[in-house]
Amino acid sequence: MRALLLENLHPLASSVLEASGFEVETLSSALGEDELVEALEGFDVLGIRSKTEVTARVLEARPELVAIGAFCIGTNQIDLGAATRRGIAAFNAPYSNTRSVVELAIANIIAMARRLTERDKALHAGVWDKSSTGSHEVRGRTLGIVGYGNIGSQLSVVAEMLGMQVYFYDVDDKLALGNARRCSSLEELLDNAETISLHVDGRAGNAGIFGAEQFARMRPRSLFLNLSRGFVVDYDVLRDCIVSGQVAGAAVDVFPSEPKSRGDAFESPLRGLPNVILTPHVGGSTEEAQEDIGRFVSTKLRDYVRDGATSLSVNLPVLTPEHSVHPQRIAHLHENTPGVMAHLNQVLAEHDVNIGGQVLATRGHTGYVVTDADTDSGLSPQAVADLAAVPGTIRLRVID
Ligand SMILES: NC(=O)c1ccc[n+]([C@@H]2O[C@H](COP(=O)([O-])OP(=O)(O)OC[C@H]3O[C@@H](n4cnc5c(N)ncnc54)[C@H](O)[C@@H]3O)[C@@H](O)[C@H]2O)c1
Repeated sequence: MRALLLENLHPLASSVLEASGFEVETLSSALGEDELVEALEGFDVLGIRSKTEVTARVLEARPELVAIGAFCIGTNQIDLGAATRRGIAAFNAPYSNTRSVVELAIANIIAMARRLTERDKALHAGVWDKSSTGSHEVRGRTLGIVGYGNIGSQLSVVAEMLGMQVYFYDVDDKLALGNARRCSSLEELLDNAETISLHVDGRAGNAGIFGAEQFARMRPRSLFLNLSRGFVVDYDVLRDCIVSGQVAGAAVDVFPSEPKSRGDAFESPLRGLPNVILTPHVGGSTEEAQEDIGRFVSTKLRDYVRDGATSLSVNLPVLTPEHSVHPQRIAHLHENTPGVMAHLNQVLAEHDVNIGGQVLATRGHTGYVVTDADTDSGLSPQAVADLAAVPGTIRLRVID
């Protein structure tokens, strides 16, 4: 197996694969479509970050590709529909930077409560502004978390350790961790909490969910954080609320339109406001997160190639079969239509192949079955050809 890893991935990405016998080639940059088509020749696995677009054309040019690892959180850069139709598994790292975002949120909450950025700026300007006015401990204060997913729920746990009282609101029914209190509406949360932190996902319906009405409903002199998505908040309204004093401080890491490259100019109505902490979408950007992403995604790629495991795949049915004790494993991706399984097993019976174990999962239009063949002599070339010819087959892999 040969893996091509682009975009300067953490060295752990290569070492995990090399330790399992992969031949790995790395490139520090992203590749354009034409370059990628050319570069992929002879590779079975591709690793990218967010800058390399894996289009339908790229996948058409390299249909032998077995799996793609997005060594980041998002997978918008991959044409997942085309990958699924060709039976190419895609993986990402949805949790690797969760803790990094949580720690930045906590740092921001304390920094805003103590007006640290103002003290820092004054002292750098040569002004000794020693005062306790407007500075608060966070212990005993209320935190309202909107979106109680991976990040929101972990923030809940860490904030409680600091002595904060946590309220949360989620559109889904989520288990309340520790002493956190569930609110049944955003309004209830805004009525109860004095620091509001947004951790919702990027679904289209979340555009502009936090605007004039929500800021007006916040308790006076509250603190506000958005480390989720830029398009969920009306930042013109936030600016007005900071100027009027309705909101006492804000920490914002994400913006509706963000500069493309490091060093590019940045425009926002929030620039230059007191007690407003602006960070360039670095919530999840830590060396620890990069290392974890390198290890996590490579492990998923290795387990898929070696065992047929698709756990946490973003496009294929999810199966986590045990490491096989049988000589051969047949990983069969197919259209999720009646009769495929019966046909497949009939072919195995015709070739006198005993089934040592078999697991099936489906996801939308795709079915995935992993069958352990209990045969010492191995599958004959004709048996493999007959399996590949089962109507509805998308991809057949025989793993020795
Ligand atoms: N700043 C950064 O660098 C950075 C890094 C990682 C993730 N993020 C962003 O943080 C956000 C949260 O990430 P996550 O991993 O916790 O996601 P997640 O999918 O685990 O959790 C999101 C939660 O929000 C809930 N939700 C969605 N819409 C809602 C709404 N309108 N009201 C209330 N709840 C709602 C969902 O039910 C889910 O529980 C995402 O938008 C992600 O893109 C930012």
